[in-house]
Order: sequence, then C-alpha cells, then structure tokens
Amino acid sequence: MNNGPLVFLAAFFALSASWFGFVLTPQIQIGRQQQETNIVNTAEMYPQLRPGIAHQGMEVYRANNCAACHSQQVGQTGVVVDVVLTETGTNLTAVDAVLKKIEGSMNVAGLAGGLPKTILSGATMDAADMLAKVLKKAGAKAETRLVSVGPDMARGWGLRRTVAADYLYDYPVMLGALRVGPDLANIALRSPDAGTHLNHLYAPQSVVSGSAMPSYRFLFETRKISGAPSPDALQLPKEFAPAAGFEIVPKSEARQLVAYLLSLHSDTPLYEAPMSAPVAPKPAAAK
Ligand code: HEC
Repeated sequence: MNNGPLVFLAAFFALSASWFGFVLTPQIQIGRQQQETNIVNTAEMYPQLRPGIAHQGMEVYRANNCAACHSQQVGQTGVVVDVVLTETGTNLTAVDAVLKKIEGSMNVAGLAGGLPKTILSGATMDAADMLAKVLKKAGAKAETRLVSVGPDMARGWGLRRTVAADYLYDYPVMLGALRVGPDLANIALRSPDAGTHLNHLYAPQSVVSGSAMPSYRFLFETRKISGAPSPDALQLPKEFAPAAGFEIVPKSEARQLVAYLLSLHSDTPLYEAPMSAPVAPKPAAAK
C-alpha cells in the first residue's frame, strides 16, 4: 500500500477545511464583537451589562435549568414596510385621491381624528417609499415603518430577530433548544410586572390557570408574621395563599431571577437587525 501520503493529505485537507469553516470563520465574523455604537439613530452603546442582581439572576436561571423549557432566541423570516399617515396637510382633495388609489373605500374624512394611521401594511420598501413620496407631494406627512415578520413575531415574542450582539455579556448563553414554554428573549416587554413574575414562580397556576410550568417554591420562604406583614410578601389568590398568620416572601434568589427576567428585552434597533422604534411599553425597574 503506497497511498499513505495521499490518505494523509486528504485527511489533512478535510480537517483543515472544517477548521476554517467551523472555527476560524465564525471567530472572524462574531468572535471579537464588542459593545459598540451600532444603534440606528442614536449614539448609545449596545449592549449594556445586565445590572447587578440581574446578573446574579442569570446564574439562578441556569441553576434551575429554565432553558430546558424556554428558548431565548427570536427568529424572523423577513421585513415588510408599513406606511403611517401622520398629518393630512391642507390639500385634502389631493390626499383623498391618493388614498382612493390604495384602497377605494379609504378617504380623508374617514381618517378624521384617527391619526397617525397605518394606511398601507406589508408592502415592499420601494412601494412604501413611493407612496410616502406621493403623499408628501400632496402636502401630507407619512412615515415608513419597518415591521419584522415571521412565526415568532406572530406569537408576540419579539419585535426583531435576536443577533449575536444581544448576548454579548451573557456567559454561558442560554439560547435553549426546546419551547415547552414561550420564548423569553423579550419577556420584560410582554410582562413588566415583578409581582406577577414572583407569583408565577411561586405558583404558576395562580397566574395562568392550568399552567404546565413547575413551581419554584424553594425560592421563597414561608414564615410566621410577627408584627407588621412584610411589604415584600406575595399577594396570592385565595387558593394559593398560605395559612392565616403566615406570609410568603421571596428569597434573594427569586428576586435576582425576576430582575434577570426584567432585563430580557431585545428591542434596540441595530443596523444588523433594523426595526422601527418599539411601540410596546418600556420594561419597569426591577423590584
Ligand atoms: C417543564 C418546563 C418548564 C420549566 C423547567 C420552566 N418553565 Fe417557565 N413556562 C413553562 C410553560 C409551559 C409556560 C406557559 C404557561 C405559563 O405561562 O405558566 C411557562 C411560562 C413562563 C413564563 C411566562 C411567559 C409568558 O410569555 O408570559 C415565564 C416568565 C417563565 N415561564 C419563566 C421560567 C423560569 C424563570 C424558569 C426557571 C426557574 C422556568 N420558567 C422553568 C414551562 C417551563
């Protein structure tokens, strides 16, 4: 057998090609990402470190293996553009003519008082730009808004896809691979109330009837009320409330975990994942 060198070369080639593909290329693409001014229209830095106890909460999330049932990655299949009419201007006849062209039944009188109003949705960038231009000519003011689309957006799990920069300060990154429960990449936007999260962790069924999520009672302490009740005690519905004279207070792990959940929001418009400014309420501060 004289093919030794050939076999060696083939193996060497196969291994080095996969090293280039799987190790070097990703390292060049995202391995050296840093916090940067990568936000559309502002000079803020992104991402920011998770604040103190939220950072500790990440460890609690990991220790309890929440990632076994929850992903933290939002996908997107594309972007469409909406046109929003913000002002009609004074030349109503001209604006009327434009609106009629988009949809026969739409007219300025019908929009009265209802501005800003989306007058075209799901369009391509070119079509939206064209319409905005025509409206401008007619003396009206219109905005184009980027809207991410995909199954995850339809479920209300995010406003844009998540990208590597969103996880820059998380180690290890807990993307999760199973979705027994909903994706949590934007849980702070959907559910900004710390009290609700604490109740849900203590007794998921007290917030979502029939919830399949396990309860995390060991993150809480049941104690006898001595003197005034604690201001931190959970406000639970009757059937989950402790016996009279007792109260349930979150341990520091529960507090940290909730602070972490309230730090989960990937809603900053980045150049690599553009979107129009969020309309959802800003997350409340951690309790
Ligand atoms: C056995 C699977 C499972 C595990 C483990 C699990 N969850 Fe859940 N989780 C669910 C399911 C199912 C739901 C949906 C029903 C509900 O809201 O209670 C849910 C819902 C949630 C919600 C509300 C989501 C929303 O969209 O409103 C949050 C927040 C949450 N889980 C956090 C956690 C945290 C934090 C942990 C770890 C301490 C965890 N979960 C562990 C299954 C799980």
